Amino acid sequence: MSGTSRILNSQLSQRIMSAEQAAELIPPGATIGMSGFTGAGYPKAVPKALAERIRRLRDAGSPMRVNIWTGASTAPELDGALAEVDGINMRLPFQSDAVCRKQINEGQMQYLDIHLSEVSQYAWSGFLGKLDVAVIEVAAVLEDGRLIPSSSIGNNKTWIEQADKVILEVNDKQSLKMEGMHDVYYGTALPPNRKPILLTEPSDRIGERYLHCPLDKVIAVVETSSSDRNSAFTPPDETSALIADHILDFFAHEVKKGRLPAQLLPIQSGVGNIANAVLEGLNNGPYKNLSAFTEVIQDGMLKMLKSGTLKVASATAFSLSPDALDEFNNNIDFYKDKIILRQQDISNHPELARRLGVIAMNGLIEADIYGNVNSTHIMGTRMMNGIGGSGDFARNGYLSIFMTPSTAKQGAISSIVPMVSHVDHTEHDVKIIVTERGLADLRGLAPKQRAKCIIENCAHPEFKDRLMDYYERACASGRGMHTPHLLEEAFSWHVNFEQHGRM
Ligand code: COA
Repeated sequence: MSGTSRILNSQLSQRIMSAEQAAELIPPGATIGMSGFTGAGYPKAVPKALAERIRRLRDAGSPMRVNIWTGASTAPELDGALAEVDGINMRLPFQSDAVCRKQINEGQMQYLDIHLSEVSQYAWSGFLGKLDVAVIEVAAVLEDGRLIPSSSIGNNKTWIEQADKVILEVNDKQSLKMEGMHDVYYGTALPPNRKPILLTEPSDRIGERYLHCPLDKVIAVVETSSSDRNSAFTPPDETSALIADHILDFFAHEVKKGRLPAQLLPIQSGVGNIANAVLEGLNNGPYKNLSAFTEVIQDGMLKMLKSGTLKVASATAFSLSPDALDEFNNNIDFYKDKIILRQQDISNHPELARRLGVIAMNGLIEADIYGNVNSTHIMGTRMMNGIGGSGDFARNGYLSIFMTPSTAKQGAISSIVPMVSHVDHTEHDVKIIVTERGLADLRGLAPKQRAKCIIENCAHPEFKDRLMDYYERACASGRGMHTPHLLEEAFSWHVNFEQHGRM
């Protein structure tokens, strides 16, 4: 598209109003599906205006709360602003906001932590109740009313289809040159009417470039001009560099053994320090023309595309630092045909992760000696962020790699414990665990072999002997010898931390 106005449809241009006016159209108690995924493509103005309205109502003695569904995490202007005024009753499917987290853990906010690929199915099936309003950021509206998506797609297609009413935010800070990078698949259905999804390469396009929205659903159009929340990455530290080295050695070994092709398999990488260090390592390694079938394009992936290490990346959102965003916007013509943004039920689809043989690399909070992984709960009770897409990729991928420093909180906590205090990924879904100490390849190992492998390779020296002692006493206890445990002691490490500040 060209020209200065970003709202080319005449019907929709008549619905332009302020964020405050749009927020007034949302009824108390409403369930709202908002755009936004990992700080990209979330609405910037209406949530803030809604939070202000909620604050005013609360001060006047008539509190208002809403339910908020998104793609994944958003930003302080959305999650933070609404949580601060105690405006959220139910939140799903993922968040990583400090204020939101506090509310969840103080019992003020209900939180439904769902595999990201499954959210749209939940909504379509009616498991979640009715969706009243969708608030969706887009880059522009075409003459015929089709929408150019912005820097994430997430659940936008589903929210627009399922909501009774739609509020659009048209953000002129999102580059118009993104037009054509998106691939919105309109072939999904509920069982028993599902058909195979005909995507056999991460680079395949199976859908349309635009989102469709019935014009009569649109009750407001709000023009905005704000950048996404783009936080800078901390440069890789020694620990994350060591973890990355172990993973790179492992890839080289697997290629040599003929268990991975020279161009590996499509990589999926979570966001964060360690994930970024692994991408840096891959970028400096011998690889060329790799592909990514992942959730989020972060700085490391952009660098890999630039260098030719990566030839294509399929995802549902960007998550870029300010510098990387500048790099992207300044060279968008170069990146355009190398990046495909899809809705999250496709970017994370189990059928596709299994078919493509994704190498899934994600962080963890704690793992136990048998390889069960907790990605979400601190000391078994307090929510950190959520499972996100880690389960979508770990269970269905070709390799599932979970990575973590061997200790947390200045060494007071061991990331390897006798029994995890919450399970997100069971031993059946966890193939490889890596810490800065080493890598445990659990493929083909029975539980007792796994325990020795994890303790030997991954535990911090400070905790290694105690873990081995626990394991050996469990074996000698005369109880079940398949997965030996001392049940009265299994959580004593967590109890120690809660009572004495150290495991
Ligand atoms: N006990 C208590 N706190 C722990 C802990 C443990 N065993 N392990 C980590 N933490 C704390 C860290 O101290 C840190 O706290 P801080 O923010 O107060 O400094 C925080 O958890 C994050 O840990 P960090 O080591 O910096 O790793 P990270 O940024 O990679 O995050 C997860 C790790 C597990 C929280 C993160 O990967 C996550 O949310 N995963 C689930 C979702 C997911 O995998 N998404 C990607 C799918 S595409």
